[in-house]
Amino acid sequence: MGGFHLVLLLLLFSSLAMVFVLVCGSSSITMNNNVNLPIISFEDGYTPLFGDNNLIIHKDGKLVHLTLDQRTGSGFVSHELYLHGYFSTKIKLPSDYTAGVVVAFYMSNGDMFKKNHDEIDFEFLGNIRGRNWRMQTNFYGNGSTKTGREERYDLWFDPSQDFHQYSILWTDTNIIFYVDNVPIREVKRTESMGGDFPSKPMTLYATIWDGSDWATDGGKYRVNYKYAPYVAEFSDFVMHGCGVDPIEDVAMCYNVLNSKANIMPKHKIEMENFRNNHMTYSYCYDRARYQVPLPECVISFQEAEALRKLDPATYGDGRRHRGGKRRHPQSKGGKEEDASF
Ligand SMILES: *[C@@H]1O[C@H](CO)[C@@H](O)[C@H](O)[C@H]1NC(C)=O
Repeated sequence: MGGFHLVLLLLLFSSLAMVFVLVCGSSSITMNNNVNLPIISFEDGYTPLFGDNNLIIHKDGKLVHLTLDQRTGSGFVSHELYLHGYFSTKIKLPSDYTAGVVVAFYMSNGDMFKKNHDEIDFEFLGNIRGRNWRMQTNFYGNGSTKTGREERYDLWFDPSQDFHQYSILWTDTNIIFYVDNVPIREVKRTESMGGDFPSKPMTLYATIWDGSDWATDGGKYRVNYKYAPYVAEFSDFVMHGCGVDPIEDVAMCYNVLNSKANIMPKHKIEMENFRNNHMTYSYCYDRARYQVPLPECVISFQEAEALRKLDPATYGDGRRHRGGKRRHPQSKGGKEEDASF
């Protein structure tokens, strides 16, 4: 009997989408973010930020519409500042012609720290008819805005047809981005990143705005207001973080994760599959931009190959090969040969 129960327990465990170890002081719990985290109403977590009538709350705060029209975009912001946590929302993006439109779900403290802000971003970049939205993730720490750490992806679904869940997990040692509970990117904090890893309390934001100048093919396709209003829908708000008292500046971490979150092996494989098949840009492989990958980059042969197939010009130099030497070493002396891939 005992053995049978153990097997059941193991089965149960392996079927959980994600198991985090939550640490609060000395107590430590293991939990699954799918099942246990409460969904809160808009009012409990957020407040309108801009766009007045272009933000509409439906269903007692279970659903929010953010609209972009000729007049304005719109957005909302969390009541609280958080130092670490798990933050999630479901989003249904506007459909049809959306070139130039940007929808973002992100954390930032840019309004408090003008010169040295931190940021963790999901950004959705609209597209011309017949082409899907693209998604971008990025982060900054201590005002490192000159050092872009963008990745871009296509998705395995049309994000304008249904609601899908987008989540940010931020701890002291890593950041994990999830789409529908599939981890798609993990940033592991390294010593060498210094202040570039987000480390100060941030608020959450969701916005829709006109990004004509860069969003679609670098600004080639601008927002066309003939197709407005553009409406992005948000629901299923989850905010499981360490709220920070802005006066005392002390994080209140009741039962909230504040330590490294681990990705289970099964989900590691899902993440690799996603990255090998859906990633269309990564700063870690962009040799035109960074001759030597930034120190936190963990270079994967499969990712490098997949990107090189998409865009040999940008990624052609990013192949790892025997001995760790670059295929076409730039003439910069021996130093570059030592770059760890
Ligand atoms: C943050 O950036 C400032 C300069 O902008 C620098 O003086 C400081 O050392 C940085 N802090 C960390 C932790 O890297």
